[in-house]
Amino acid sequence: MADNSAPIGVFDSGVGGLTVVRALMERLPHESIIYFGDTARVPYGIKSVPTIEHFSEQIIDFLVGEGVKLLIVACNTMAAVASATILRRAAGVPVLDVIEAGSRAAVKISPNGAIGVIGTPTTINSNAYARRIHELDSSIRVFSQACPLFVPLVEEGWLDHPVTRLTANEYLKPVLAEQVDSLVLGCTHYPLLKAMLRDVAGPRVRLVDSALTTADLAADCLRQQDLARQAGAAPAYRFCVTDIPLRFQTIGERFLGRSLGRIEKVDW
Ligand code: DGL
Repeated sequence: MADNSAPIGVFDSGVGGLTVVRALMERLPHESIIYFGDTARVPYGIKSVPTIEHFSEQIIDFLVGEGVKLLIVACNTMAAVASATILRRAAGVPVLDVIEAGSRAAVKISPNGAIGVIGTPTTINSNAYARRIHELDSSIRVFSQACPLFVPLVEEGWLDHPVTRLTANEYLKPVLAEQVDSLVLGCTHYPLLKAMLRDVAGPRVRLVDSALTTADLAADCLRQQDLARQAGAAPAYRFCVTDIPLRFQTIGERFLGRSLGRIEKVDW
């Protein structure tokens, strides 16, 4: 029987999933969280499916071993290609992911049924967003675009730099030409580019921030499964990573929007 005071396990290929943690901290302030970032092996967005599946299994084993009550796949790339593996490995722990949350939100807010999706090459090649959106509503048209340069630009802190703006203009041109009415930010890093992307996409296009929509989905799931922690309880946060590279603290705190405190290095 699940323990309501157990933490939520959130995981990602690296530091980017802290955007989801940030949204969870705001949406569910009483919940404890263990974050796992595979900083030694990031990026996943350009790796093959079997490799990502294998890494995902290792992460799930770690978090399930820590006794989490809910697993949240913050990494779009892992959700795109390893969701069946993750579900199998989760040993009955409920699993939510950013693709489910982002797809549902996009279908709900799209006024004309024309949705753009941006993400890493692996996410876009998997077609996972388009498949899920079509399962929810087969009449919707989906236009996808891989944006491989966004991850390094965000990690460089170039959130509103002319180079990033120019890159965004190039990437979004074909998607905007299709008259999309909404744009799913299908990568952990893209919420940090939201202000700039809003500018480039223009006021007609609604942005779907998968971090925020995942926090909403988590709140619903905890309520439905009677797993929510009692209001007023003080949350505990742990940040576990496989490497602590140079500038990790600075970059991590940019994603989280607050101090990270102590970072634990996991030795497999
Ligand atoms: N976390 C990845 C995602 O959301 C981006 C970074 C990576 O390529 O590993 O797709």
